[in-house]
Amino acid sequence: MAPPPRKRGRGVFYIYYIIMYSSKELLEKVNKAIEDMPLEREPKGLYAPIRYVLSLGGKRIRPVLMLMAYNLYRKDVSPCIMPALGLEVFHNFTLLHDDFMDKAEVRRGKTCVHLKWDDNTAILSGDNMLVLAFKYMAQCDEKGMPAVMRLFTKTAIEIDEGQQYDVDFETRNDVTEAEYIEMIRLKTSVLLACALQIGAMLAEAPEQDAEALYHFGECLGLAFQLQDDYLDVYGDPAVFGKKIGGDILCNKKTFMLINALLHASQEDRAELQRWIDSKDCNPDEKISAVTALYTKIGVDRMAKERMNAYYVEAEQYLAKVSLPEERKQMLHGIALKLMGREK
Ligand code: IPE
Ligand code: IPE
Ligand code: MG
Ligand code: MG
Ligand code: MG
Repeated sequence: MAPPPRKRGRGVFYIYYIIMYSSKELLEKVNKAIEDMPLEREPKGLYAPIRYVLSLGGKRIRPVLMLMAYNLYRKDVSPCIMPALGLEVFHNFTLLHDDFMDKAEVRRGKTCVHLKWDDNTAILSGDNMLVLAFKYMAQCDEKGMPAVMRLFTKTAIEIDEGQQYDVDFETRNDVTEAEYIEMIRLKTSVLLACALQIGAMLAEAPEQDAEALYHFGECLGLAFQLQDDYLDVYGDPAVFGKKIGGDILCNKKTFMLINALLHASQEDRAELQRWIDSKDCNPDEKISAVTALYTKIGVDRMAKERMNAYYVEAEQYLAKVSLPEERKQMLHGIALKLMGREK
């Protein structure tokens, strides 16, 4: 039996009762749940792409974060497995549609669904995953379910809003840094935040803890998307698993492009603007010219500094969680790991 979660100030008592899983063990549980999904079904055209994308791995950080948050308060994570699976299926649904929208070719080192199959497949298999995600998410403790579904629904809507801003910004040249931050908060951060809060809610953690964990995830998510944008320019494609330069080709208004335009000399700004406006240029030339400008202007360093600032803020929220420090080690660990991630 897990200890009564609402009682506080019993560090030793908790340590005695709560067995913390390693992140590797939690990852294995998530992968097992994915393997057990009944996807050997007809019509194959609908389910094979779902099986495909889910079999390509990925970091599984959202379900792992959910299970970690749950495991802060509860010894046995099995009641949280289905919602964690729901979250990962949801994330993978966003990837199918995102790759189609971003004209991406490679995901996790393999051909994207809209190219391996076709556009309609990415749409419909993605839709199916969205519904499956809600089905799995609802397979949680009945008492906690209404609040869990409210948060999950709110999050899913925010992600659509973030994606729309991301698309709208491609054709705008006056996007501010604040607008960019709000866009990535919506398209990326809220899902990490939601993962942590749902884990805490299902474990019946104190409300202030669940909220602090949400904000921890939100800040971590901002650092995470900044790193994603950075890797889209400076990453190693063999490790990152995506093609480098996709954001540059789509004129994505990333932290780097916004700050490059802001801090460039007049001459560099004009060159950058020419690349942004160019229609029929050679893609590789555009990627290398824009990357060279970024490096010259120093936006790579600026992105790293901002990432670090969000990491520090995330840690401040984690400090507010009313548990002994040693219990939070796994969350400290995963936050630090994400900061240095290369994939
Ligand atoms: C990719 O997410 C989409 C972003 C929010 C940047 P991940 O980097 O978590 O992708 P996988 O699941 O590990 O492949
Ligand atoms: C990710 O943004 C946001 C969602 C998938 C909702 P990106 O477009 O930067 O993600 P990647 O780089 O394709 O993984
Ligand atoms: Mg994308
Ligand atoms: Mg995108
Ligand atoms: Mg990206």
